[in-house]
This record gives sequence, structure tokens and C-alpha cells, in this order.
Amino acid sequence: MTGLLQLLLLVSVTVASEPSCPACSKFDYEEKVLERMIRMEFAFENVLKENKAVSKSVEQDLSRINEENERLHATVDALKDQQEQAERRLGSLMEEVERNQSNTLEKIVSDSNSTIEQTIAAFNGIKDQIATPLVYFHARSPQTTTLSTGEVIVYKTVEINQGNGYSPTTGKFTAPVGGLYLFTMHTCTALNKYAYLQIMKEGTVLIASEHYDKERYTCSSSQAFVQLDAGEHVWVQCSSGASYVQLYEDSYHWTSFGCALIHN
Ligand SMILES: *[C@@H]1O[C@H](CO)[C@@H](O)[C@H](O)[C@H]1NC(C)=O
Ligand SMILES: *[C@@H]1O[C@H](CO)[C@@H](O)[C@H](O)[C@H]1NC(C)=O
Repeated sequence: MTGLLQLLLLVSVTVASEPSCPACSKFDYEEKVLERMIRMEFAFENVLKENKAVSKSVEQDLSRINEENERLHATVDALKDQQEQAERRLGSLMEEVERNQSNTLEKIVSDSNSTIEQTIAAFNGIKDQIATPLVYFHARSPQTTTLSTGEVIVYKTVEINQGNGYSPTTGKFTAPVGGLYLFTMHTCTALNKYAYLQIMKEGTVLIASEHYDKERYTCSSSQAFVQLDAGEHVWVQCSSGASYVQLYEDSYHWTSFGCALIHN
């Protein structure tokens, strides 16, 4: 472009300086024109050369700019990729954190559940160990009234027999579980009759009593605390028998035997 302008300028300058001198010969004139044309050609060639050089440098600049542009695009693309990857990683990390949190929560719930269940089981176990089972009985109405020495009193009427420890056949109580028991016997006699009774554990006397009243039908009670192993027997027996040793019972006077398990 610059070269073309220079060329036009040169041509116009050349035309403007046409000789006006009449003394100059036609040959001289033509020679000068030729010389100018040759100079113009040189100048033109130089201009073309310069033009080429400029255009080459412009091309080089353009290609450098293109390369730079491509490099920038590539960098931007890489940055975009990195950002997307980072976003994906962040997303999956957040999902993992949420999963972990809910897993942790579930674990805490299930752990405390099993702790509670273990505690309940342990509590029930302890309760079973320390709970006193219901064992007690009360029986009355002796089978025989006139007693002989060593005779076991069999109380026939069973009022209550929780735990089935008392036998109305033998008159003996068999401890269903070991523990501390309280035994009672209530003994009534007619006037002028005696009662000599003992509460026995496996042949050992736990308590002994004599009951007598000359003028009235009366009753008395005896109690004995005793520690029994399961299966041990307790009963009431006559320590001294005779025809005047007689038990009595009517609706006002109950001759009876009973016990309760206090603690096992
Ligand atoms: C999620 O839990 C796993 C297993 O316990 C662990 O390896 C991981 O680091 C946890 N992830 C996060 C993000 O806390
Ligand atoms: C513990 O979990 C079991 C079974 O998943 C369930 O039946 C029970 O009710 C839970 N116990 C408590 C105390 O939440």
C-alpha cells in the first residue's frame, strides 16, 4: 500500500518536471525520460522489496499473534477443565461428607439402641436375681386332736399355698427356693387341756411352746425366723404327748401353721 502511493507520487513528480526547454534535443529528452524511468523502476523495485519485507513481518506478527491466541485459548480451556474437575471433586466430597454424617448418625442411634437393650437385659437379669418370689402358705384344722410324742401335726385345711411348699398330706413344708423364712404356729386348746408343740427344721427345734388354760378355751402364737436351703423341710410336731394333750379348733379358735419367704 505504502509502496503504491510512493509510485504514484514518483510518476506525478516525473510528469510535472517535463522539460520546457526548446533547446533540448528530442534524444536528450528521451534519454532523460528513460533514465528517470529506470530510476523509477529501481525505486519501484525497492518499494516492492520493502513492501514484501513489511508484509512478511506483518505475517510473522500475525502468526505470532495467532499462536499466542491459540496458547491463550488452550490455557483457558485447561483452566476450565481444572475448574470443572475441582467442582466435581468438591461435589463428590460434599456427598461423601453427608453420607458419612448420616452413617455416623445411624451408628450412634444403633449403638445407643444396643446399649439400651443391653442395659434393659442386665436390669431384668438383676431384677430376677434380687426379686423375691412369692412363697407363703397358711393351713389349719389339725387332722388329730389328741397327740402322741413326736407326732407331726397335719393341718388339713389349706387356706393359701403360694409356691406349693406345704403338703396337707404330710404336714411338712418344703422350701421351693433357698432364703429367709418366717414360720408361725397358732395353737388353741380347750379348757384344762395342754399343748406341747415345736416348729422343727430337719429334726432341729426352731421354737418350742407349751399352752394351757384351766378355765377357758384359749390360743397362743409362736414365730420362728430361719434360713432354709431349697428342699429343706419344716414342720410342727408334739414334743410331749398324752391323753390330756389335745388341740382344739372351732370358728373362734383356729389352730394353724404358716410361713412366708421374706428374702431369697
Ligand atoms: C468417610 O468415611 C470413611 C470411612 O470411615 C473415611 O475413610 C473417609 O475419610 C470419610 N470421608 C470424609 C470426607 O470424612
Ligand atoms: C432397637 O432396634 C430394634 C430392631 O432394630 C427395635 O426393634 C427396637 O425397638 C430398638 N430399641 C430401642 C430401645 O429403640
